Amino acid sequence: MPTGPSSPATPISEVTEGGARPCPTGIAEIDRVLGGGVVPGSVTLLGGEPGIGKSTLLLQLLARWPARTLYVSAEESAQQVRLRAERLDAVRPDLWLLAETSLPTIVAAIDEVQPTLVVVDSIQTIADPAVPSAPGSVAQVRACAQRLVAEAKRRDLPVMLVGHVTKDGGLAGPRALEHVVDTVLAFEGDRHHALRLLRAAKHRFGATDELGVFEMRGDGLVGVPDASSLFLADRRAGVAGSAVVPTLDGQRPLLVEVQALTNPTAASGVPPRRSAQGIDGGRLALLLAVLERRARVATGNVEVFASAVGGVRLTEPGADLALCLAVVSALADVPLAAGLVVVGEVGLAGEVRQAAHIGRRLAEAARMGFTQALVPANSPLGDCGLELVRVGSVPEALVAALGDGVR
Ligand code: TYD
Ligand code: MG
Repeated sequence: MPTGPSSPATPISEVTEGGARPCPTGIAEIDRVLGGGVVPGSVTLLGGEPGIGKSTLLLQLLARWPARTLYVSAEESAQQVRLRAERLDAVRPDLWLLAETSLPTIVAAIDEVQPTLVVVDSIQTIADPAVPSAPGSVAQVRACAQRLVAEAKRRDLPVMLVGHVTKDGGLAGPRALEHVVDTVLAFEGDRHHALRLLRAAKHRFGATDELGVFEMRGDGLVGVPDASSLFLADRRAGVAGSAVVPTLDGQRPLLVEVQALTNPTAASGVPPRRSAQGIDGGRLALLLAVLERRARVATGNVEVFASAVGGVRLTEPGADLALCLAVVSALADVPLAAGLVVVGEVGLAGEVRQAAHIGRRLAEAARMGFTQALVPANSPLGDCGLELVRVGSVPEALVAALGDGVR
């Protein structure tokens, strides 16, 4: 049964935009990611590992929505949801609660309650008895999602679905689900840290490069408009093995501290240990090889531990140079200047390459009180409030940041 839209062929200039304008949710970090808010009739899938805070986020969203909402809990009892809502200050007269797993009952409740926003938590635990397969199976998940999409479009009702993802990041259930919905959001974070990141993996109504940042607290998720301050809060300047990189996550600049620790290996003949947290292990190995071959910094007989602080994951190459400097700073036991940020990709020839949107990165560093930046040699930059030190290669960067004698 096709559930897509249908309208006669018309010149595009004569098509009206209709009601596809986003309604703000009242949670600024969600609105930022959705490009302004929730679009009427849209279906959004919120994916994330179990325990990351999906139910918490959506309950908070419903509680702040200015009109009647319905939360369908297919995992927790109404009493459990009520208890959680009390912690979150989400016990509001306009928030209706249904603990139910059967799809027809859920649709009937939507008819009865007439909500203006619906959350179904989760798509893997509801089932349509007319579909002869188990809840969570591919056929069941797809059938339920298609029905909910059709109901959403028919009523111009925004619907949000929770979807659990497996450890490797895939959605448990059919990937086809991602094609059925309008928007796919990913809620991520390290469960041992309070930091949570919200990203759009697919968004029919806008860009997918905005980042929402939250902190999980005892009373729920709190938006973090100034994420750089959060990441740098515990930093001790003047310690060897630390470098600050103005990284870019989508459009959002974040200052992140990269740390390295090196330690002589105890046993010879065993390959020395490399450990990376929040940093790709393969990238660390590559950069250590570049340091050895291009800058004559040998790490063959030391263990190297490297991490991005605060539970953040550094996946962009603009952080390469900061990681190199953190490692050499640790090896030499010489700290970098406290007011210095470092940005640049490192190539296999030891050259320092451009990083995207350097102006935006450095503006964030200036805002956070940094005074000096080590940047790729041909960065197209004028006045950004920072003293710029341009470097073309890793050896040049080492001399500029750590002085002549470090190797
Ligand atoms: P939850 O929203 O249930 O995660 P999900 O729906 O993604 O499985 O959040 C679970 C965790 O969040 C739980 O381990 C406790 C923590 N938490 C807080 O720290 N503060 C809070 O106010 C709430 C409600 C939960
Ligand atoms: Mg949940």
